Amino acid sequence: MRIRVKAAGVSPTDAKIRGGYVQAVFRLPPDAVLGFEAAGVVDAIGPSVSGVNVGDNVASLLAGLGGYAEYVLASSWTPKPANVSWSDAAALPVAAEAALGILKQLRVVRGETLLVLGAAGSVGMIATQLAASWGVTVIGAAAPRDQDLVRSLGAVSVTYGDGLADRVRQVVASVDAVADTAGKGGLADAIMLAGGPARVMTLADARAADLGVAFSVGTPDRAPEALDQTMALLATGNLRIRRERQLPMEQAAEAHRLLENGDIHEKLVLDAH
Ligand SMILES: NC(=O)c1ccc[n+]([C@@H]2O[C@H](COP(=O)([O-])OP(=O)(O)OC[C@H]3O[C@@H](n4cnc5c(N)ncnc54)[C@H](OP(=O)(O)O)[C@@H]3O)[C@@H](O)[C@H]2O)c1
Repeated sequence: MRIRVKAAGVSPTDAKIRGGYVQAVFRLPPDAVLGFEAAGVVDAIGPSVSGVNVGDNVASLLAGLGGYAEYVLASSWTPKPANVSWSDAAALPVAAEAALGILKQLRVVRGETLLVLGAAGSVGMIATQLAASWGVTVIGAAAPRDQDLVRSLGAVSVTYGDGLADRVRQVVASVDAVADTAGKGGLADAIMLAGGPARVMTLADARAADLGVAFSVGTPDRAPEALDQTMALLATGNLRIRRERQLPMEQAAEAHRLLENGDIHEKLVLDAH
């Protein structure tokens, strides 16, 4: 189906693709259009598509990219409830899929203790809330400014950075699993706290293999149910997502500059209104 885009999410991964840092996974032609996630109005439907109509409001995780555009082709979708804004709907797909995906791969279950590195980020906030809702004890590592936020998500908060293992040990002697949703160091501490790398997983740390840690890559079967599940939670007020900064679609380059400066602590969304 084709979607007339109302809003497109910008993920840190987009900047890595554009910069050519992940060519082993994303080798794109020079005229490729970035954008893994969009929300908009269904504009045309292919002959074998059912369950959706022209004019429906949807959000989509775009396997073929192309979200930073007026129109994009999508092969999966989730209806956008009326009380979810276009920008929230566009901000959800990538983070939701990665968050649920890494929790499933770690096989985290009720009663266990999980350390989330990057608990105040787009992926980390969702992973924290989902795990907490399953009855998992979550310890969330985040910046000093985000400690209250992480606690409000149902986690015990600790400050990220040097000395992380000691700060976590003031809360618990060890953890069962670690979801690294930040990729900014911390894996060595994570391995110590989890008693080995077997249940430590990262979405973003390129040094993972050297440390024996599994790198979780988005695949169609990692968590295809994630967007449906989290959209419902968002619509009922049972999920918080990262604060957003909206830019007009024309300012996609500026969005990438902000991401690459590392000076942005919000989810960037391109607005096509
Ligand atoms: N492999 C996959 O399938 C996949 C899928 C989605 C995303 N990703 C990757 O996952 C990463 C996170 O994505 P996102 O959208 O959640 O990004 P995000 O919203 O920018 O969140 C990143 C979070 O990590 C925090 N952080 C920074 N330094 C840290 C440290 N030393 N220890 C712990 N946390 C730290 C950031 O805090 P501050 O705000 O204080 O900097 C921020 O809260 C990106 O690298 C992205 O490319 C991978």
